[in-house]
Amino acid sequence: MSRLVVVSNRVSIPTGDAKAGGLAVALNDLMERQGGLWFGWSGHTSTGSATTTPALVQHGAVDYATVDLTPEELELYYNNFSNGTLWPLMHSLPEQMNFDRRSLQGYRAVNMRLADVLVPLLRSTDTIWVHDYHLLAMAASLRARNVTCPIGFFLHTPFPSPDMLSSVPEASQFIRDLLSADLLGFQTANDAENFAASAQRIAGAARLAGGGLQLGNRQIRVGAFPVEIDPHDFAEMAEQAHGNAETARLRRSLDGQSLILGVDRMDPTKGLRHRLAGYRRLLETRNQWSRQTTFLQIAAASRQDVDAYQTLRDDLEGSAGAINATLGEADWTPIRLISRGVGRDAIAGFMREARIGLVTPLRDGMNLVAKEYVAAQDPDDPGVLVLSKFAGAARQLGAAILVNPVDPDEIADALDLALRMSRPERQDRWKACWEAIKDASALGWGRSFVSALSRAGTEVPRPARP
Ligand code: ADP
Ligand code: G6P
Repeated sequence: MSRLVVVSNRVSIPTGDAKAGGLAVALNDLMERQGGLWFGWSGHTSTGSATTTPALVQHGAVDYATVDLTPEELELYYNNFSNGTLWPLMHSLPEQMNFDRRSLQGYRAVNMRLADVLVPLLRSTDTIWVHDYHLLAMAASLRARNVTCPIGFFLHTPFPSPDMLSSVPEASQFIRDLLSADLLGFQTANDAENFAASAQRIAGAARLAGGGLQLGNRQIRVGAFPVEIDPHDFAEMAEQAHGNAETARLRRSLDGQSLILGVDRMDPTKGLRHRLAGYRRLLETRNQWSRQTTFLQIAAASRQDVDAYQTLRDDLEGSAGAINATLGEADWTPIRLISRGVGRDAIAGFMREARIGLVTPLRDGMNLVAKEYVAAQDPDDPGVLVLSKFAGAARQLGAAILVNPVDPDEIADALDLALRMSRPERQDRWKACWEAIKDASALGWGRSFVSALSRAGTEVPRPARP
């Protein structure tokens, strides 16, 4: 059997200080079960010059190979171009986007350097799976180094429309680079369609029936592979954690109030400003929920060297403080904001405790938190998921209350509806959501991609010229 080589910026080594994030969670679950080589950034910066050999660690069936970045690489490739340019671009939020040519060059240089370090670790029979917006130039860099193994690429974020994409100089080069892969996977059919339309317009690729593309004599498959969680494992963890001391302390502190829970990285795409405004609107317009609800927002600080993330943190701390100061009482605090990551067990227990899971990104590739919240519920007395209609997960979880994440009134209405919802309706909605995720798994997601990759990359005859 071919060895699976996963290449991603963030590598989650079990003993390391794992960071919150959908990619790490999905790939961790997959790699633990599938085994293989996982290659990427160590999460650290080197003090000296760029190293050419990776650090190697083995855990179970997985070999981890990681490299440090220099401080300059971190700044140009990770902070500036990946997270200051590409992340907002992919989420169609151009007003949050910064661009400078030096960062673009730094980004390309890191993609090439990582390819240089990876190539000596590869075997000719490997299957290579590259992940996410940090590594848009990786497939092309590997091909330029004569790597002939099948290469797949999966984007964890949304993919923007061709017009939006063209707002970044040289975006067309990234499309051409991606077309060096044999299979391109996206979270939803809409993202796959946006990519195919860009490839046709920018690179002159021909569209094939079934969603593929043809460029010269190569066929490139393009498809939707929605990321999944391990719902039964998460449900079990939530049930156990609901009985532990940490959740019990939270429950006692609520003293009978309904818990509204948000769990996110503190990220400008997660709709946190609007979410707080929505809760504020609820309290201002429906006084009966004062003292009856507590909103716990766990927002793990993320990418703190990027300006937009620092500003967001200041804004949220300011708005949460203002809501507590103006609407709180001597014996009641409406919002609890925590800007640290919380252990996975605790998150699962808190989710089971919460009457409402409030998940309102402005846009999101998938959003695993939404699926985790569903999995965490007690089927007998489930809570209600309030979900942004612009999260990829909304395509599968249509039985949640779907909202427009920028409209505080709509969020307030949804919270009110959820707080008043009868138990039979909560059960019906929950059951429909659970049905949508219960048979899937992170391993199944990975296997479906890898099996599609094994069928991709076939040479086809060049179309006859008229
Ligand atoms: P993203 O990939 O943009 O961070 P997702 O919702 O897809 O968003 O995935 C986030 C993952 O990280 C989920 O598994 C979630 O449970 C975890 N996570 C998110 N925020 C936190 C937090 N504040 N503390 C601990 N885990 C978190
Ligand atoms: C999202 C991205 C991932 C990233 C994660 C956490 O899920 O799609 O690629 O790893 O956020 O962000 P970070 O910058 O900490 O890796």
